[in-house]
Amino acid sequence: MLRRRRPVDVRALAAEHLEAGRPTGWFEPLYARAFGDRTAIPWAQDGADPAVLDWLDAPVATPPGDRAVVVGCGLGDDAAALARLGWTVTAFDVSPSAVRWARRRHPKAAVDWQVADVLDLPADLLGRFDLVVEVRTVPSLPGVVRDHAMDAIGRLAAERGLVLVVTLLATDAEVARRWVGPPWPQAPSELAVYRGSGLTRLALEHAPADDDGTVTARVTWQRPAGVPATDGAGPGSALPIV
Ligand SMILES: C[S@@+](CC[C@H](N)C(=O)[O-])C[C@H]1O[C@@H](n2cnc3c(N)ncnc32)[C@H](O)[C@@H]1O
Repeated sequence: MLRRRRPVDVRALAAEHLEAGRPTGWFEPLYARAFGDRTAIPWAQDGADPAVLDWLDAPVATPPGDRAVVVGCGLGDDAAALARLGWTVTAFDVSPSAVRWARRRHPKAAVDWQVADVLDLPADLLGRFDLVVEVRTVPSLPGVVRDHAMDAIGRLAAERGLVLVVTLLATDAEVARRWVGPPWPQAPSELAVYRGSGLTRLALEHAPADDDGTVTARVTWQRPAGVPATDGAGPGSALPIV
């Protein structure tokens, strides 16, 4: 007799790894235990994120070239969409199972799929990209590693390169403090870390807030000309947000 597979309790799985000091350790078992069933991955959509597609349709500014990177690419739909639009795309995820899945799901996509950890980035990725796309990876990380992750994301951008961030924000600090994640909505003040890695904010757009006190926001940053990826105050810097 066939038995239904029990869905993974994502919060319990994350809590178990967090308690053991492995803040990103829960992603790999989640993807591996999904056995190719997209509906078992809570954030997976069928297609690229609409906030990314809209932005690509009418970008806030023009990226200086065609090299794009997708951080925490998951099943790879955003990366495949960028490749279809003519971008030269690198996409990485910390989970080897996710990267294998993305490759299988998009066999014809001209994407350089990589297993890589944004908290320990290969040096050859730094400062290399005209467009950095980060969709909901940071709010899936606990506070203890978030500054580091945001700083590293900013450092992927080449001079004049753009960083497109789609994230979940809490409308006030109390909502962020009481939230049981993942995901853990970001306090707006956290976004200042991108400035610490040398970026300038070009736009902050968001839909109306949900009743639960969260809002999805799309933020566009730029690495100014003359500010290489090696510059900046580094993770944890508390520069005021512009
Ligand atoms: C909430 S999911 C979002 C996935 C994808 N961006 C999307 O919108 O469908 C976060 C993704 O980031 C990946 N991730 C988490 N920590 C990471 C890290 N340190 N380096 C690279 N990827 C990471 C996870 O494996 C997961 O695929």
